[in-house]
Amino acid sequence: MSRIVLGVAGGIAAYKACEVLRGLTEAGHDVTVVPTPAALEFVGETTFAALSGKPVRTGVFADPEEVNHVRLGREADLVVVVPATADLMARAATGRADDLLTSTLLTATAPVLLCPAMHTEMWQHPATVANVATLRSRGVVVLDPASGRLTGADTGPGRLPDPDEILAVAHSLVGEPTIATAAAAADLSGMVVAVSAGGTREALDPVRYLGNSSSGRMGVALARAAALRGADVRLVAAHLSVPVPSGVEVTQVSSTGDLAEAMHIAADGADAVVMAVAAADFTPTAPSQGKIKKSGDDGVTLELVQTTDVLRSLVEARTDAAQTLVGFAAETPGAGQDLVTMTKAKLRRKGCDLIVVNDVTAGRVFGQADNAITLVDPADVRGPYLGSKEVLAHRIWDRVRELRAAD
Ligand code: CTP
Repeated sequence: MSRIVLGVAGGIAAYKACEVLRGLTEAGHDVTVVPTPAALEFVGETTFAALSGKPVRTGVFADPEEVNHVRLGREADLVVVVPATADLMARAATGRADDLLTSTLLTATAPVLLCPAMHTEMWQHPATVANVATLRSRGVVVLDPASGRLTGADTGPGRLPDPDEILAVAHSLVGEPTIATAAAAADLSGMVVAVSAGGTREALDPVRYLGNSSSGRMGVALARAAALRGADVRLVAAHLSVPVPSGVEVTQVSSTGDLAEAMHIAADGADAVVMAVAAADFTPTAPSQGKIKKSGDDGVTLELVQTTDVLRSLVEARTDAAQTLVGFAAETPGAGQDLVTMTKAKLRRKGCDLIVVNDVTAGRVFGQADNAITLVDPADVRGPYLGSKEVLAHRIWDRVRELRAAD
């Protein structure tokens, strides 16, 4: 259980802080809500107290014996502000400590995540642009706002990022200062990355398909992590059961054939390509045009052919020797088999630069939030790393950066 301070500044999006609060408490975190006086004009203290299950800290002069203006920041494992208004960021950037939230930001030693929401003019004003740059240069993670409908009739960048997006990023930062540093430094900026996610489906007839149980969480986490660290992300998505992250270019695909086509386009000009998708290895020789009907008590025989190995085809088509190609492997090592030896053989077969392998014995991984991965390249083995898919996504990008720097 981590200690999280949820700061709430005074903007209409303050009501969405309630959803973030619920997500954080449901994940088992101990959350203290610190609303600014302006935030309490939008959402009442009672709501925050009920959702967090603890008293709300509203001012530096309440409970002086607890020294909240320094204690909260010092003890937090993460400080997240939803919404971060232009005013809050201006005060944080200049080091003001004129309310409990800014005092907390000034004493926090853990990662700080600011989730902006404001009108487009405010977001694009040179004062805000400079404040955001200052905060980022100090290691604060400032999300880019989403684009869309704002309060009133206006639209544009300034919407609060989706609460699910905020929760995913918050979960990756808790207790992970290196991720906060990488995100604040935008250490993947200038890189173009292509990521595939989800699971492909091969049609048997107009209503049935051969598929798999991949949720797409790992690929989505990789896309989100790269975008958070400043990369230009192309996501090729096959039947995801999780929402796509904001700020990435998405191409939806269905079958392994569609995936091959989309990935060759996405890989063109990309610095790194990561195949996290679970691609169907077999497809019907001839999918039935009509629905396959039962015939008496007889079963049915399906004739399948192998699909294109997309990863191998990307390796073969690679024209830029500096492009990094990463594959995934889900293995179920039997008695006497070793995960790393199996992966090294797969690395040779596929010809890629790195394989992320996980042991899926007894369905341990698909659809789960947590995972264990080992990173195998021709020269080295790293891991196993344990953690949420959000955190592991960052480990994979760290390794990709290292391998590219070593080349
Ligand atoms: N992959 C691919 N195209 C396919 C099947 C898989 O590009 N038709 C990619 C996956 O996205 C993954 C990697 O290849 O990155 C490893 O997938 P896996 O199914 O484990 O590889 P196979 O060689 O098919 O495994 P095995 O030989 O063990 O069946």
